[in-house]
Amino acid sequence: MTKKIPHRLYLTEDQMPTQWYNLRADMNEKPDPMLNPATGKPVVPEDLYPVFCEKLAHQELDDTTRYIDIPKEILEMYKNYRPSPLCRAYNLEKALETPAKIYYKFEGNNTSGSHKLNSAIAQAYYAKEQGLTGLTTETGAGQWGTALAESCCYFGIPLTVYMVKASYEQKPFRRSIMETFGATVIASPSNTTEAGRKILAMNPNTSGSLGCAISEAVEKAVTTEGYKYVLGSVLNQVLLHQSIIGLESEKAMEMLGEYPDVVIGCAGGGSNLGGLIAPFMRDKITGKANPRLIAVEPASCPSLTRGKYMYDYCDTGRITPMAKMYTLGCTFAPSPIHAGGLRYHGMAPILSKLYHEGYMEAVSVEQTKVFEAATFFAKYESILPAPESAHAIRTAIDEALKCKETGEEKTILFGLTGTGFFDMTAYSSFHEGTMVDQIPTDEELQKGFDNLPKIPGIQE
Ligand SMILES: Cc1ncc(COP(=O)(O)O)c(C=O)c1O
Repeated sequence: MTKKIPHRLYLTEDQMPTQWYNLRADMNEKPDPMLNPATGKPVVPEDLYPVFCEKLAHQELDDTTRYIDIPKEILEMYKNYRPSPLCRAYNLEKALETPAKIYYKFEGNNTSGSHKLNSAIAQAYYAKEQGLTGLTTETGAGQWGTALAESCCYFGIPLTVYMVKASYEQKPFRRSIMETFGATVIASPSNTTEAGRKILAMNPNTSGSLGCAISEAVEKAVTTEGYKYVLGSVLNQVLLHQSIIGLESEKAMEMLGEYPDVVIGCAGGGSNLGGLIAPFMRDKITGKANPRLIAVEPASCPSLTRGKYMYDYCDTGRITPMAKMYTLGCTFAPSPIHAGGLRYHGMAPILSKLYHEGYMEAVSVEQTKVFEAATFFAKYESILPAPESAHAIRTAIDEALKCKETGEEKTILFGLTGTGFFDMTAYSSFHEGTMVDQIPTDEELQKGFDNLPKIPGIQE
């Protein structure tokens, strides 16, 4: 008799991975090196020390160590909410009348409401270990800021969060949670930094962007004694920490005798997707298996599907290192769509490289279609998804519907990165029919491309 697959599979604490997996070690071609904006030369760890913790600077540049031990202090806090469940979407499958088997890894079961805690804990821990007196960061949707506020509170480190103005206004309670954990929250752009003042002078009514909030947070860190900056996405180190999502998913699926044909994740800066697909991408690179790996981005901020693979700054203020990535240009300010966490101009260099080499696919989806999927999913699976996560749901549903047409029994795995309790303004606008799809024109995108940096001998 075949064993019935449960609705939710929780690994035990003992089964939780004790190492992160560094996908770069298995990449045939490594991501192009980050460049120091002052010299145009590849960065070395010391170049990153003024901004990042030393251990994290080393993780950032480590292309070779395949597995990295997770310090026991981090594992202890992980146990407050991990292992996270691998869910079988029986009700969704039934509602779609699809022969596909749909699984999702649910990362929203913690107070921050998202996967962001996986890296926030690690980064706060390394800051504490180094004896720092404070941290700064940016937050888009608010999940990262909340996750870091929780983590800094746990390890006893003061935190200043620059929150993208659009989210700050749409989600006042997000700010309250961060303040509950003791963080200082500032709407970005602000007049507390040179970068913010410059952006406000050019565009006083801007709703902000992640790139702009990063500039402010970095400036604040480098101008405050004992402070460093931490970033919740894009960087190699963040994808490394998020590999725990993929490793747990792989283990749980193995226990069920399953392996995904398709793995789907939403992509803002690429951290949840990079973490979820890591072991499956390893299998694809090494020839062990050949799953399809799909990034889903908003049509309003289409860095992979319409961006250019070029060196660009990670922030609007052009003070961070330059990374080779799919980008819309660091000056690109997407329309204030409701999935604030997906409003980033670039994409993680690791994912950009893999996409460029054909290992990964990408699709862009319109916001109204995303909320249709979010509402459908909520009705059948009893979880209110974050708008960011609902991008992955949209594509998972589309893939399942294709299976319905072809009769294929594919196994689909997607990342349900978080919950949407602070996104009710967006849900309301969808229900009221006032939500619109804002898709940039080629001319609008060209303005961002025109501002890509010129680097003598590398990018003229
Ligand atoms: C719930 C949720 N999902 C996804 C993302 C996108 O980030 P990333 O691409 O780094 O996973 C965010 C970012 O804020 C988020 O809050």
